[in-house]
Amino acid sequence: MLLEQVSQRHGFSLSFDEQPIGGSAIDATGEPLPASTLEACNNADAVLLAAIGSPRFDALPRDKRPETGLLGLRAGMGLFANLRPVKIVPALIGSSSLKAEVIEGVDLMVVRELTGGIYFGQPKGRIEADGDERGFNTMTYSGTEVDRIAKVAFDLARERRGTLCSVDKANVLDVSQLWRDRVDAMAPSYSDVSVSHMYVDNAAMQLVRDPKQFDVLLTGNLFGDILSDEAAMLTGSIGMLPSASLGSDGPGLFEPVHGSAPDIAGQDKANPMAMVLSAAMMLRIGLKQAAAAQDLENAVDKVLAAGFRTGDLMAEGCTQLGCQAMGEELLKAL
Ligand code: IPM
Ligand code: MG
Repeated sequence: MLLEQVSQRHGFSLSFDEQPIGGSAIDATGEPLPASTLEACNNADAVLLAAIGSPRFDALPRDKRPETGLLGLRAGMGLFANLRPVKIVPALIGSSSLKAEVIEGVDLMVVRELTGGIYFGQPKGRIEADGDERGFNTMTYSGTEVDRIAKVAFDLARERRGTLCSVDKANVLDVSQLWRDRVDAMAPSYSDVSVSHMYVDNAAMQLVRDPKQFDVLLTGNLFGDILSDEAAMLTGSIGMLPSASLGSDGPGLFEPVHGSAPDIAGQDKANPMAMVLSAAMMLRIGLKQAAAAQDLENAVDKVLAAGFRTGDLMAEGCTQLGCQAMGEELLKAL
């Protein structure tokens, strides 16, 4: 409804097509990513994705689990670049577990490589060996894979505050040394961007010690997964964080950073803000409707400034709402 209203106001129309992935696809077809879903996504102008996953599917073989559907969709759409902006909403400063002076003014972007690294590396598996068992995955990047994600990060840094911090574990991992060398090799063609490198363990620490030092954070797949959840907490709740996943051409995928929160499923408690902000990213980046995107973002700010909160962000003096009622407030604000 928010999207319908905002598109009408800005003079374009959206047509929606709903396709199953994850649990609902498993229930309907036995597969977490039906071929028809992938095809419809690749033929769309943009894809807006809700969260996937439930403990109900944890016992299934890995290739039948919801997460495999999401990874398949990312790979099948060629979405190698995942952008996760972390921007402090002034009204939520009191909701973070960190001190106000640490997080005030934080505005950073995690650029996470999304279709490579240890998530997809071969060989991987579980074997019986020497009377024991062994599980293994492979963290691997080609120079070309590093170059294309680094370019996204350099270009973004250029549009933002001109500072790029590349995260790796080059003191231990060969794959990280390659990552670092490729980023360094690209740096001279971006003389207006200042580049630094940080080990991932230090980056995890710096994110809570002094997050304002970061502008664009460039990471591999696993490091970005971990650091973006950590960075989410700067905003008070992972229920606030949107993301965009982009390829070199074709439609982008827009989804909240949070998961499916099975513990509160069906209870009308979820924070819809990350989804609304993901829809805003879809309008701005995927559909080139920046003014409409801005309207959605303003509605979120307005509702928060008016003191409305879902349970995850509830603070003294605020009004607690369920997901549905929050949606209605957003509509009114719009
Ligand atoms: C994310 C999620 C996914 C990931 C899971 C659900 C497969 O944690 O988008 O950050 O690990 O990429
Ligand atoms: Mg994650």
